[in-house]
Amino acid sequence: MIAYLNGAFLPKEDVTISPDDRGFLFADGAYEVIRCYDGKLFKAEAHINRLGKGLGELRIDFPDVYKLNTVAEKLIEKNKVQTDQAIVYFQATRGVAPRTHRFPIKPVPPTVYGSASVFAPHQDELDNGIKIILVSDTRWARCDIKSISLLPNILAHQQARDNGAPEAIFIRDGAVTEGTHSNLFGIFDGHIFTAPESNYLLPGITRQVVLDLALVLGIPVKKFPILETQIIKADELFIAGTTVEITPVVQVDDWKVGNGQPGPITMKLQKAFYEYIKSTR
Ligand code: PDD
Repeated sequence: MIAYLNGAFLPKEDVTISPDDRGFLFADGAYEVIRCYDGKLFKAEAHINRLGKGLGELRIDFPDVYKLNTVAEKLIEKNKVQTDQAIVYFQATRGVAPRTHRFPIKPVPPTVYGSASVFAPHQDELDNGIKIILVSDTRWARCDIKSISLLPNILAHQQARDNGAPEAIFIRDGAVTEGTHSNLFGIFDGHIFTAPESNYLLPGITRQVVLDLALVLGIPVKKFPILETQIIKADELFIAGTTVEITPVVQVDDWKVGNGQPGPITMKLQKAFYEYIKSTR
């Protein structure tokens, strides 16, 4: 596999990162995951803009972030993943400096890493739906930044896996924020509900596509938090994200959602999502 590191393309096995890298020592950085369909990046600009914004919030100076679009295209080409579904991963950290909590005294360049790899979607989950579990949201108060500091997400996700579920959904102050790697949507009485943008959730690129598609399809949307007590009363639930696309949710903990099958509005949105991807190729 050919990877990208600080301006150069090189075999992944030749990538070396210093143990003094602040990403390694402090998880001091941000990342992005971009989906690629038939060799074409999906919503790359939106992902890279979000990375640029996040790095700005973290005060990590990386003015060339907007050149990553071209880097992503080159990674796809060099790894010959044009015919497959693929994922491009980018990560930028505050760089290499002696360990101290404050920013490096002498400015250092960020460490920027990128890779492209084949991605196999979970077709069974997309067709038949998944179980989710509800967990307490123990994350920090800047979940709008796609920080590489993901321990609460990892612990919650593993808890889900231990309970036979591919996703855990965070609950904060009695309401859903989002999943460990996806945003959650509920259908109540023909209306789509999802948490409004805030510092407690990532403004998902797929979430925005869902909201745009709902508008086109004439499905009313309410950006309103789904309460923990209401979630089991949803007619339908689904998660949305770069890797999970639009995946129906048919079970929450031990409860069935609706009749336990993927719901019609969810599947309508999923169909429209694939048509939209095709239209962008
Ligand atoms: N995660 N919320 C969280 C916490 C996420 O980590 C993600 C994506 C999303 C969905 O965002 P988007 O639609 O822009 O992918 C929401 C990526 C895929 C990951 O961590 O692998």
